[in-house]
Amino acid sequence: MNYNFNEQDIKVLDRIIEARRSVRVFKEEIPSDSMIKAVIQVGVYAPYAGLAVAGEMDLRRFFVIKKDNQIINSINEIIKATAKSNLKLLEKSLEVNPFLKEKSQGFVRRLSFTSQAGLQDLTQAPCFIIIAERKGMPPVEKQSLAHTMQNMWLKATVLGLGFRLISMIENLSESNDFCKLLGLPYGEFAFNGCIIGYQVNEPTKRNRMSLENSISWL
Ligand SMILES: Cc1cc2nc3c(=O)[nH]c(=O)nc-3n(C[C@H](O)[C@H](O)[C@H](O)COP(=O)(O)O)c2cc1C
Repeated sequence: MNYNFNEQDIKVLDRIIEARRSVRVFKEEIPSDSMIKAVIQVGVYAPYAGLAVAGEMDLRRFFVIKKDNQIINSINEIIKATAKSNLKLLEKSLEVNPFLKEKSQGFVRRLSFTSQAGLQDLTQAPCFIIIAERKGMPPVEKQSLAHTMQNMWLKATVLGLGFRLISMIENLSESNDFCKLLGLPYGEFAFNGCIIGYQVNEPTKRNRMSLENSISWL
């Protein structure tokens, strides 16, 4: 297939990639169903691990939860319980690894807070999307989820929608209650999540890694 991209196409692609930012504060307005579908469409197009999921038709699923859907409260209860048990496990492993202990302080605080409060930002999210990717061998479902997210993030950007990754959702892959709530068989899918909506403020200017310092020509 030859799409014959021209200079203008390349400039547009660069502008979209450049414009992609994390948005963490959203207006109340919920994006239209057609916009939500447009974002999910490119998630469907994202690559998947052919060998890992060979023969499977049901590879990737998207669950859309709009603001004021009470299901968010049930998800938050599952998030709290999962954060609590992950915190216990982490604290145990940190007892025998002082180096990791120093590096993990921020994450331990985050888990501890989440185990008590859940993810409060989810209750305010105009549109929360959970993505489920079928697990396989080799176990590369997290990479497929990242590709899916990136496609969706770029499409949201070009549609003028803000986008926020909610990576805590990854931890729910081991939760039987979460699988039940989504109507998926336990153990067969990995998860990630994101919020889309209209941003309140322009994101702050960011510090970029310099191209020259990032490349080594070997
Ligand atoms: C693997 C990964 C997980 C992330 N998880 C979260 C998250 O849970 N919540 C969040 O607000 N941002 C999350 N981010 C976004 C980063 O904080 C953000 O991309 C980074 O600070 C650079 O800012 P930018 O996206 O505006 O360029 C995550 C990014 C990556 C790559």
